[in-house]
Parts: sequence; structure tokens; C-alpha cells
Amino acid sequence: MEMVNITIDGQKVQVPKNATVLEAARSCGVKIPSLCYHPELRPEGACRVCMVEVEGARTLVASCVYPVSEGMVVRTNTPAVRQARKLVVELLLANHPQDCLSCQRNLNCELQTIAADLGIRKIRFDGEKKSYPLDADNPSLVRDPSKCILCGRCIRACSERQGVHVYSFVNRGFNTTVAPAFNQGLHQVACTYCGQCASVCPTGAIVEKDDTAAVWQALSDPAKHVVVQTAPAVRVA
Ligand code: FES
Repeated sequence: MEMVNITIDGQKVQVPKNATVLEAARSCGVKIPSLCYHPELRPEGACRVCMVEVEGARTLVASCVYPVSEGMVVRTNTPAVRQARKLVVELLLANHPQDCLSCQRNLNCELQTIAADLGIRKIRFDGEKKSYPLDADNPSLVRDPSKCILCGRCIRACSERQGVHVYSFVNRGFNTTVAPAFNQGLHQVACTYCGQCASVCPTGAIVEKDDTAAVWQALSDPAKHVVVQTAPAVRVA
């Protein structure tokens, strides 16, 4: 494999010639936050959380889509980089429901983790918020577009992994959202309920249905004729 020599945060490393800066950094233990990037999906460069400084580049670059080159010098943790990342995350949070405690993804949310890592303790910006109805008229998934950060991971997972192509970006500007065509519900399109979209969603915008309460209610209701299979009793001599 052809390799190139680059410097990341003062560390000289050899990385594959076709790697991105993000892949190169992670391969040598340098942490760069990311949201729209997923190692199993085509990179998109949508969220800009992974910005870094590259010597010679005129602006900060999105490391998940920026290719390495021989002699490149990268800085991942300068004040300008930290400030830019923080601003991006603050803007995402400004248009995000503040209901972490009741969210199914609480403590398992990539946006929440990155905000904490960046030391964001309050939302500086206040403005209009997206508010969309839940899409839950199907047996498996709950979509809450109000929690969507437009990373596009679900679109790529549905098309690249499953070949189903249920999701796409809908509308433009502030009203952009991710949804099945014509904003239909998942039960109205060719969704197979495979759950790939939920598995890659970094927030609580797509989650598996939590029917635990309903299942226990059904189990305790003899009228619903739910058969509970138990292991046969073991006789102790
Ligand atoms: Fe690189 Fe989103 S992770 S732009």
C-alpha cells in the first residue's frame, strides 16, 4: 500500500495515501469529534464538527473528507479549531429540543457527548426551532424530525447498506429535514423496518420503538391470550 508522511499535532506518522485526515488522525490515536461521519458509510462533510487546521489551506477544513498528502501538517486542537467546533455544536443545539432527560438516547447521544466534551454548559443562541410531528404509525421505529441534525447518515445507511432509498433531504434552508418522499410516514413507503437508520442516527431522531410497557401490559392481561414460554421445571432429588 502506498504511504505518505504527514505531521499531526507534532506527531510524524505514515498513513495510507488514500486516507482522509480524520482516518489518519484516528489511526494514530488523535481524537477528532465527528457527527455526520460514520466509518461504514461514504463520508459527506455535512456537519463541519471535524474541522482542523491544515498548513497552507486558506480555511479550516472538514477532516472527514480532506485527503492526506505528502508532507501535510495538521493541527487538530488549536483555539481557532476549538472555537469553530463549539460554534457549530452551539448552533445545532439552538435548534434542538431541550428534552434530553426524557429522550430515549439520553447518555447515548453523540450530540450530547460532543457538547459535553466541548464544555458547552448553556445554549447561547435563542431563535426559531423546528417542530415536526412524530412519525410512529409503524411497528418498529419512531422518527422525531425535530431532533434531526441533518447529518444524512440515515439516508446513506438506507441506500448504501440496504439499497432501499427511503430517506432523502426534503425542503430547503431552515425548513430542510430528512424524511421519506413527500414527507410520508415510514408505513406509507417501502421501508423494511430493518433499523439500519436507527443504528446510525447520532441523536434521538430515529429510534427503535420502546414497547416494553405495552408488552408487560399484554402479558398481565389474560384476555389477550399471550402465551409465555418458560423453561421446563427441573426436579431436584
Ligand atoms: Fe466531518 Fe461531519 S464529521 S463534516
